[in-house]
Amino acid sequence: MIKAELKNIAREAEDINLLEFRRSDGSALPPFSAGAHIDLRLGNGLVRSYSLVNCPSETHRYVIGVRKEPDSRGGSRFIHEQLHAGDEIEIGQPLNNFRLCENAPRSVLIAGGIGITPFASMVRRLEQLGRPWELHYAARSRCSASFVRQLASYGSKVKFYFPNEFNGEPPARRIDLHKVVAEVPRDAHVYCCGPRNMLASFEQAAAALPSGQTHVEFFSNANGLDKDGAFDVRLARSGSIVRVQSGETVLDALLKHGIDAPYSCLEGVCSSCETRVLSGIPDHRDLILSKEEREANDRMLICCSRSKSGTLVLDL
Ligand code: FES
Repeated sequence: MIKAELKNIAREAEDINLLEFRRSDGSALPPFSAGAHIDLRLGNGLVRSYSLVNCPSETHRYVIGVRKEPDSRGGSRFIHEQLHAGDEIEIGQPLNNFRLCENAPRSVLIAGGIGITPFASMVRRLEQLGRPWELHYAARSRCSASFVRQLASYGSKVKFYFPNEFNGEPPARRIDLHKVVAEVPRDAHVYCCGPRNMLASFEQAAAALPSGQTHVEFFSNANGLDKDGAFDVRLARSGSIVRVQSGETVLDALLKHGIDAPYSCLEGVCSSCETRVLSGIPDHRDLILSKEEREANDRMLICCSRSKSGTLVLDL
């Protein structure tokens, strides 16, 4: 964990604030790559992940964008209402499940709503590298969209889709993901981050593209848990055995037995809880691991997954 000071809070758009963190002594923070996120350990016991929006070449600060969710489970409301400039907060090392392929001949970025945040960093990085890119950004309205002025400065590289009228402007078209994807050059890498329905449409539209060239960042996980049956988890480092009961995830059982394990989103979308599997067959329910990684059965996201075998041996 990194101890950092919340240096500044700035309003970016309707219900969206930018928060800037620095080390109190001004020293450099661990480096990150475009598309990375950090976990914030909030004072109320919650841990939440947010994408870094500043350029990876900035080593002195982390900047995140946080939308106050109307159905907040406590994290975004706490950040908006309880955190103040000058507060000290614990931050996890940057992790990246949405890595920018920096040498791609072209990058096509597709954002919906607050899903713009990882792209704010990617756009800065692509500009720095001088690589061709384009961004399609859909949001409810202009005033609910982030970084509009900065993005507009890139001219035709950015297409906005704001279906609701704002200040008498004519409504823009809704984004047509099939059309956007159909026009993607064959050698491009395509990225999508946004609400679940947008990601589902994108995955459908991009099904024919080479899988190594499509990248999706999830905020939530609709995969259910197979809740039937109990199994054992053996912790290789301590030798302890923990019973995981019906309806529990591996993480639930570990925490119930007072065993400390890292986690953040609890939904299989951030990778904070990724754990090495030494033997046994996990029942993967996350949205992080690729098909190949799942089949290797050598790691799992313990916050949302269980076991297909009677015993799992974990590197814990
Ligand atoms: S805590 Fe986020 S993937 Fe498990």
